[in-house]
Amino acid sequence: MLKIVIATNNNHKISEFRSCFEQKGIEAELIPIKDTGFTDEIIENADSFEGNAYIKAKALCEFTGNIAISDDSGLCVDALGGAPGVYSARYSGEGATDDSNIDKLLCELSSVPPSERSARFVCVICVCRPDGEAIYLRGESEGIIIDERRGDGRFGYDPVFYCPDMNKTFAEMTSEEKNSLSHRGRAIEKLISNIDFLTE
Ligand code: IMP
Repeated sequence: MLKIVIATNNNHKISEFRSCFEQKGIEAELIPIKDTGFTDEIIENADSFEGNAYIKAKALCEFTGNIAISDDSGLCVDALGGAPGVYSARYSGEGATDDSNIDKLLCELSSVPPSERSARFVCVICVCRPDGEAIYLRGESEGIIIDERRGDGRFGYDPVFYCPDMNKTFAEMTSEEKNSLSHRGRAIEKLISNIDFLTE
């Protein structure tokens, strides 16, 4: 079975990767950071999703000697000039939580009308191989930031990220629905199209 180190301890991300692989019939053992013995802090200080994804995958690939994948993702809101972007996880500062990040986002957008609340989730997956080769797979998903939280599934900004095509927020979708149109689902789709890079 394909063994892949996944450079995250975020259970939501890991389960989205697992369910996408399962939906595509790919048998792979995904090993989170905590099961590798890696304890260093990874400083994600790049100013792009690609840069941060590379930092994480490279660190785990070098430490384990195994293929490593990482996902760097975030929410880009047009009315905020692309913020919070690469700072999505820590948007509301030290000790940020999903709830405090959403509160800050809604506060920043309080005077922005619904017609100008377009946003996209971006996900960049980086795959690093022990031979030093790396590839990047980018997925994006368009939506609108709504004023009130809807749904209690999923994580992060999901409750306020509304997809007009589905008439649902990401938090109101089943995991199959979210995977079919999410930034991560789309990036994983591209990863699966490049599965030879992981197996050759
Ligand atoms: P990362 O772990 O540095 O990639 O942080 C990404 C941050 O972006 C997360 O902590 C969330 O706040 C947000 N984010 C990324 N993907 C999603 C998603 O699928 N739904 C909701 N929020 C997300």
